[in-house]
Amino acid sequence: MDARALKIEAARAALGHVRDGMRLGIGTGSTAEEFVRLLAEKVAAGMKIVGVPTSERTAALCRELGVPLSTLEETPELDLTIDGADEVDGKLALIKGGGGALLREKIVAAASSRMIVIADESKLVETLGRFPLPIEVNRFGLGATRLAIARAADAAGLSGPLTLRMTNGEPFVTDGGHFIIDASFGRIPNPRALSNGLHAVPGVVEHGLFLGLADVAIIAGADGIRTVHAAS
Ligand code: A5P
Repeated sequence: MDARALKIEAARAALGHVRDGMRLGIGTGSTAEEFVRLLAEKVAAGMKIVGVPTSERTAALCRELGVPLSTLEETPELDLTIDGADEVDGKLALIKGGGGALLREKIVAAASSRMIVIADESKLVETLGRFPLPIEVNRFGLGATRLAIARAADAAGLSGPLTLRMTNGEPFVTDGGHFIIDASFGRIPNPRALSNGLHAVPGVVEHGLFLGLADVAIIAGADGIRTVHAAS
């Protein structure tokens, strides 16, 4: 099975958790897009849901496919968020933000009673950190923020290149109008310590460590679907 087929399988399994009347957070990325396509089929067949998208890109796809949308202003509490991830560990700590949507993704996940992560098995890791950690930063004071991030990482025993994300020769700009620094720290044995350190840096808007947010991960692999639950 190729990667896309696995993403579709994970998305299909997650769709089984969606019930009529639910208020849904809808993720960003190629796996979440497969979920939107399957969800749109259910909506076309009569399922009543309302979705809060985690990015302009996801909102555009939902509109194109007829998935009804709301906002967190109109619908501040959600029943379930379904989203992809760049890395998932066995305790359901995540790295997200490869697509640049981490801030809205985290706000939406935090507003949801439950979060289900959908991924192919390549995303499952023993320890987070192989995938560079996206850190969303204010444009103002970039040099000072970068230095402060390096110091916060050092205090957590980590170091590595901090690369400003670029697209077409220009800094990548998030839906919130911020920049992203991709931090290649390697293994992150204590994500909580790093998270706390990064949150203490004033120029850091948010980072891509999602800790204590995911309830279930649906991982599709060559041998089928594996469901991982967060320890209660
Ligand atoms: C978007 O900002 C990310 O958090 C995505 O959820 C993550 O990058 C997974 O994307 P794919 O499903 O495309 O791998």
